[in-house]
Amino acid sequence: MSILLNGGVVVSANERRQLDVRIDGEKIVEMGTNLTVNDSTVENVSGCFLLPGFIDAHTHLELNNGKGSMGTADNFTTGSKAAVAKGTTTVIDMATPNKGSSLKDCLASWDKLAQGNSSCDYTYHMSIIEWNPEIKAEIKEMIDAGITSFKMYMAYDNLRTKDAEIFEAMEEIRNYQGMLGIHCENGDMVNEMIAKFVSEGKLSPHYHPLTRPDSVEAEAVERYLMIAHLADLPVNIVHLSTKRSLEAVGRARARGQKVYVETCPQYLVLDEHLYDAPNFEGAKYVCSPPLRSLEDQETLWSGVINGAVNTISTDHCSFNFEGQKTIGREDFSKIPNGMPGVETRPELIYTYGVTTGKISLERMVALLSEDIAKQFALYPQKGIVQTGSDADIVIWDPETSGVISAATQLQNVDYTPYDGFETQGSARAVYLRGQKVAEAGHVITEKQGNFVFRKIDPMNEGNQST
Ligand code: URP
Ligand code: ZN
Ligand code: ZN
Ligand code: ZN
Repeated sequence: MSILLNGGVVVSANERRQLDVRIDGEKIVEMGTNLTVNDSTVENVSGCFLLPGFIDAHTHLELNNGKGSMGTADNFTTGSKAAVAKGTTTVIDMATPNKGSSLKDCLASWDKLAQGNSSCDYTYHMSIIEWNPEIKAEIKEMIDAGITSFKMYMAYDNLRTKDAEIFEAMEEIRNYQGMLGIHCENGDMVNEMIAKFVSEGKLSPHYHPLTRPDSVEAEAVERYLMIAHLADLPVNIVHLSTKRSLEAVGRARARGQKVYVETCPQYLVLDEHLYDAPNFEGAKYVCSPPLRSLEDQETLWSGVINGAVNTISTDHCSFNFEGQKTIGREDFSKIPNGMPGVETRPELIYTYGVTTGKISLERMVALLSEDIAKQFALYPQKGIVQTGSDADIVIWDPETSGVISAATQLQNVDYTPYDGFETQGSARAVYLRGQKVAEAGHVITEKQGNFVFRKIDPMNEGNQST
């Protein structure tokens, strides 16, 4: 028994075509015009777009899990449900080890958190928070285990490594054509400025962005890209948020480097004035890098439009306002950093990108799915609606409208930074490997997610060296 999606318009990064799509088991088996019915269940999808399931390449669904009030409000169970309900069929979560533990142990603990709990497919970026011969030896083991991408930090005292260690990690990752992403902020400067404001009694959320100004990010981006130049490694910059950082990327590309840039919806539709919201509500927007100026926002949109920005993922890292964000009521530097967003990305980018005419729907498919799949060795299993690919399909209805609201969201957190935002277009149904898992924003069958084993194809676009 197969399923025939009849009458829709299939969209890829390059084109849109009116095509019927037949699914059998977990795969797309046939595409064409006027496909015959045979034994198929027919779903009429006329008036809708058929988009490849969205991929969120940056989530923290389980950060500090088990560490009391510092653990994220969402976990794999709740976060993946919120994701898939609105069209995200795969997440790449940040697996983050404790100091002293091996990458293997971290992988095992993330598998334990995700397996049997995730409602979307999943894999991980493995975080490297310290560098020693044991960790070095584990890079190849991770790649052999299907984990082809890594994450390092230049800020956060408990996560960051030294420049020389980043360089050594890059050289090792290059040996296997793995992908490295880095959190670019100058950690010393952040510490310095936090200490300065705190000592002056400047303790409200207003001061959060002033401790992490655009130069703090851009300096780290510049340094990271110079180190990558020395190591001859194509690299990813996660959550890039400023004009100055994008200029540094431009310089690296001009000297011939391959650089991938991710930005996030919060840097495209929110800005720094929100830190002055009354009643300590500015704390809701405390994340790193912080929200930026309208000029930065405009530059990022230009990058999204002209290709300087490659992908949009969320950096979903949810903390409740009551009981978590409020820990920093007397001191902004104690507010846990991060915001929810895995649920709202497709509707936000469609509404504020596509319906405003800034980007085409094809470009949205590239930014939220196809180019992420190519970069992270998921393509063509994921990231495209074509024969042979996983039947991860979003039936996108452009005619719906809605309002984002904390009261109705599926994310397990007591606020959303986009409360009251009007949206246009939404996922009418979501297929995950051939199974309809969500309808009209509601999950109809949960915990169907599988680990996606990734394998580097040396000839492929992503994960290659220059
Ligand atoms: O504030 C943020 N973004 N928290 C999550 C960790 C990170 O920096 O990506
Ligand atoms: Zn980060
Ligand atoms: Zn202010
Ligand atoms: Zn992050």
